Amino acid sequence: MRTPLIVGNWKMHGLRAEARALAAAVCAGVQGLGGREVAVAPPFTALTTVREVLLDSPVALAAQNMHWEERGAFTGEVSPLMLQEVGCRFVILGHSERRQYFGESDAMVKQKVHAALAHDLVPIVCVGETLNEREAGQTLEVVSGQVRRALLELDPPAIRRVVVAYEPVWAIGTGRVATPQQAQEVHGWIRKLLRETVGEVAAEVRILYGGSVKPDNIDELMKEPDIDGALVGGASLDAQAFVRIARFLPANDLE
Ligand code: 13P
Repeated sequence: MRTPLIVGNWKMHGLRAEARALAAAVCAGVQGLGGREVAVAPPFTALTTVREVLLDSPVALAAQNMHWEERGAFTGEVSPLMLQEVGCRFVILGHSERRQYFGESDAMVKQKVHAALAHDLVPIVCVGETLNEREAGQTLEVVSGQVRRALLELDPPAIRRVVVAYEPVWAIGTGRVATPQQAQEVHGWIRKLLRETVGEVAAEVRILYGGSVKPDNIDELMKEPDIDGALVGGASLDAQAFVRIARFLPANDLE
């Protein structure tokens, strides 16, 4: 009932010529791939370029961040209307790099989630603990706090459109992937928390895993019952690697 979703977060990589070439290679590589959704999130300056490449392809466009207001005196920010205009379907919100380097709080993430939903953008809401928090046995508390503060005021029709991405901070860009069991444990908690608060609609919410996802670990991760896809950083800059991740196995419906 949950269509798997694989999203490439290009972070601050991709001048327009590079972005065009990468997007074209991804489109070619996932052609004919059914039973899953694929999206790429280039930097803002490459969104329109990538959009041209993605037209008529099944690959969707995502943004990496967004302000919650439609317009105003917010120097340096980009609004939901602007993302809509360039054809974004998804927007990544509350990435740990935004939280860590740019001071994004759960309250800001919550406002962004509401704004995204109001503008027909699918929010991909990132949560995850640091290494210190994990070692102190606080993973559940940290992640459930982030989920609660960002999402739990949403009603069931809204929450079913949200995507959650569990990205343990210690696994991002480190090559140290969470084991499928570690990831499943947290994904299961997140779904349980959603079920306790919004009810059965929790079964429809996609929960992605992010943190050093590579071609050689995606298949094992995707076997877990509550892992519904991946948010891929470094490996999404290599078309061949990203396409292999999008073509994770087992698949019932590969070409
Ligand atoms: P890496 O795949 O490079 O670890 O990055 C994960 C991430 O932050 C995706 O949003």
